Amino acid sequence: MSHRFDGVQALTAVNLQIAPGERRAIIGPNGAGKSTLFNLIAGELPVQTGRVWLHGRDITHLPVPARANLGVGRTFQRNNLFAGLTALENARLAVQHRERINRHWFRHIRGFTAVHTAATAILEQVGLAEQAHITASDLAYGQQRALEMALALALHPRLLLLDEPTAGMSPAETADMIQLIQSLPRDLTLLIVEHDMDVIFTLADQITVLHYGQVIRTGSPAEVQADERVRRVYLGDVMRDA
Ligand SMILES: Nc1ncnc2c1ncn2[C@@H]1O[C@H](COP(=O)(O)OP(=O)(O)OP(=O)(O)O)[C@@H](O)[C@H]1O
Ligand SMILES: [Mg+2]
Repeated sequence: MSHRFDGVQALTAVNLQIAPGERRAIIGPNGAGKSTLFNLIAGELPVQTGRVWLHGRDITHLPVPARANLGVGRTFQRNNLFAGLTALENARLAVQHRERINRHWFRHIRGFTAVHTAATAILEQVGLAEQAHITASDLAYGQQRALEMALALALHPRLLLLDEPTAGMSPAETADMIQLIQSLPRDLTLLIVEHDMDVIFTLADQITVLHYGQVIRTGSPAEVQADERVRRVYLGDVMRDA
């Protein structure tokens, strides 16, 4: 894909092929085009040039909800929760949404128990079982991000886009989030934009480096780390800053 904003060429002929179950990180300096790429894949930006395929299906022109229903999930940098509802209520809404898509929603009574069970299980999966009845706005920051992850997982994505999942977190919260991401099912494909190199090198099978809207390298963490050009344009800066 290529993408242009007014005078800015944000992406130029970026071609990614991500295998099912792969955990791919996208890294690059500020303004490299990472968020633009995410937004094109999730459908939040209209594709100008190129195509997006999901499991063999062309989804280039599908709107966001249709992509979500086909299994494209994402978390956001900004909070995307119902702040006044509890963690469990948030999770229940997400589960109910999925059930509605699957047309099971009309099974009222049995449906409620099933939704409750599924919502509880998802909170457990992200480590929030004990916070089920706490209002989202009262959760610690890291717990709010974990709840966001729960909502994304409740929709049963096949591809999950994680936008800086540890941004703003304390070291302890970051460690919890890494553990949570590592615990996700291996058949769930992950695409992660992240600035924290520890997080990247821990989680990613493959890393794609963007620079001024172009892919300058895709490879294993070791290959990317050893790449002279990558070190020059990106890792060198990060290491100096660190
Ligand atoms: N809505 C927009 N209108 C105009 N220009 C934009 C818009 N969104 C992004 N850009 C520009 O496109 C380029 C790529 O931006 P993008 O946000 O994708 O970078 P990024 O890699 O996500 O950067 P960061 O690490 O800072 O989040 C930048 O030059 C940016 O200024
Ligand atoms: Mg960005």
